[in-house]
Amino acid sequence: MAEQIKLQIVQGRLPAGTQLPTVRELARTLGVTRVTVQMAYHELQNAGLVEATVGRGTFVSRHVEARPPAQSLGRQLTPDAVVNDILQLGQIAGLRSLADAAPDASLFPAQEFWQALDECRGEALEMVRYGASQGDPLLRVEVARLLQDRGMAVTPDEVLIVAGVTQGLALVAQALARPGEPVLVEQPTYLGFLHTLKAHGVQPLAVPLDEEGPIPEAVERLAIQQRPRFFYTVPTFQNPTGVCATPARRAQLLALAEQYGFLLVEDDLYARLSYEGPPPPAVKSLDRSESVIHVGGFSKLLMPGLRLGYVVAPPPIHERLLSLRRAMDLCSPPLLQRALARFLHEDGLKRHLRRVLPLYRQRRDALLAALRHHMPPAVQWTRPQGGFCVWLTLPRRSTLADLQQAALQQGWAFAPGEVFLTRPSPDYHLRLCFGAQPPEWIAQGVEVLANLIRERLDRQESVIEPPSDWLPLV
Ligand SMILES: Cc1ncc(COP(=O)(O)O)c(C=O)c1O
Repeated sequence: MAEQIKLQIVQGRLPAGTQLPTVRELARTLGVTRVTVQMAYHELQNAGLVEATVGRGTFVSRHVEARPPAQSLGRQLTPDAVVNDILQLGQIAGLRSLADAAPDASLFPAQEFWQALDECRGEALEMVRYGASQGDPLLRVEVARLLQDRGMAVTPDEVLIVAGVTQGLALVAQALARPGEPVLVEQPTYLGFLHTLKAHGVQPLAVPLDEEGPIPEAVERLAIQQRPRFFYTVPTFQNPTGVCATPARRAQLLALAEQYGFLLVEDDLYARLSYEGPPPPAVKSLDRSESVIHVGGFSKLLMPGLRLGYVVAPPPIHERLLSLRRAMDLCSPPLLQRALARFLHEDGLKRHLRRVLPLYRQRRDALLAALRHHMPPAVQWTRPQGGFCVWLTLPRRSTLADLQQAALQQGWAFAPGEVFLTRPSPDYHLRLCFGAQPPEWIAQGVEVLANLIRERLDRQESVIEPPSDWLPLV
C-alpha cells in the first residue's frame, strides 16, 4: 500500500498538499485493518513523503518534488499526445530535451520584466478589472510599432491581442472553416496547429516544402482541385524545418491567394530569431488585397508563460475574430498585457534580442557541427538561418521504431517527425531544437542520438539508400 501511494506521489498524481483519506476511510475502502493503513502511513511519513497533524489529517508533504517517469512519454504518436509530452518535459527527472522549440528559461529578462510589472502598481485599479477584448490599448500601440520592422504599416486599432499564437490560430480556424472543409498546410507543419484543426474537424491538405518555401505548383493544384478556405504557412524559420521562404516565393504565394480567392494565414512567431541578418519582410507587408492574416507573439522571443500574441486581419475578419474571442475567454489578463507594453516601450525586447541572438546562433552552430561530426552518412538535415528547429531525414527502417524510447532511456528527448505530417512520408523524420540547451549538452545529445541511429541502421542487411530527394523536403 505504501509503495502504491508513494508512486502516485512521486509521479505527481497526488500533488503536494493533497489530503489523504483518513485511516478509517481507507481501511474501509480497501477492506483491510486500520493497523495496516496506519503502518503504511507511518512508512510514508518516515520517508518524508507525507506529514500528519493531529486533528487535521495526513497530507502529501510540501517538500516532495513530483516528477513523472521518462517512460510516460512517447507512448502515442498523435499531435495531441506529443504536444502533451513536450509540455511535460521540464518536469521529468534527469531528462535533457532537444524536443521543444522553446527559448532557454534561464535567459529570460526576468529582472527587467519584474520591474515593468512593478511599475503597474500605480494602475492597480485598472489592472484588476476585465480588460478590453481587443487587448490593452498601450500594448496594441507597441505591437503596431514592432510590426514596422516586419515591413507592416499597421494602426493599433488593427491589432487584436490574443492568448498566444495558439489562440489566434484557433480563432482563425473557427472563423474561416467549417468542420469537414479543406485547408492547406505545409508538409511538414507545426504540430500544434494540426491538433487545433483536428479539434475543429477541419481537413488539412499537404503542400510540400523545398528549401525556398512552399512549392507554388502544389498550392495552385490544390487551390484548383480542393478550393481550400485558407493556407496556413510559417514562411520565416518554419517549425519544424527552419526553412525561410524566399521573397520570390512569398510574392508567388500571395499572387495565388489573390487569384484563387483563399486567405494566407501567416505565422510569424520565429521571424525575429534571425541569425544571419534581417529576415525577409512579412508576407502581410506585400498584401494590397486583404488576402493575409498575420499572427505573431512573444513565446519564442521572451517567455511562453506570458501567453500573449497578436493577430492582424482584414477588417471584416478582424470583427469576426474579436466576437469569437469574446465568446471564448473575454480578454487576456490586463496586468500582464500592461507589463509587456511597458517592457516593449522601454525597448526591452530589442535589448533582450541583442543579448540572446548570438547565444542562439552559437547553439544552432553547435547542433549543425555535432550533426556533421556524429551522424551516419544516410542522415540529412536542414540548415536553418533562424528559429529553433532542425529537421532530420533518415531512411525509413523498421529498426528505427524504438528510437524515441531508446533515446528517452538514455535521458534524451526529441520530437518524432510523424506528428508534423498530414500525409505519410517515404522517409523517417525527427525534429531537433537547439534553443533551450547550452552547446555542450547539444553536442552530447546529438552524439547519443547518432549512436542509437547508427546501431539501428546497421542492423539492416540491405544496402541503405540515401533518403529521397532533397527537393522537396518531404
Ligand atoms: C509555428 C508555431 N506557431 C505557434 C506556436 C505556439 O505559440 P504560442 O505559444 O504563442 O501559442 C508554436 C510553438 O511552438 C509554433 O512553433
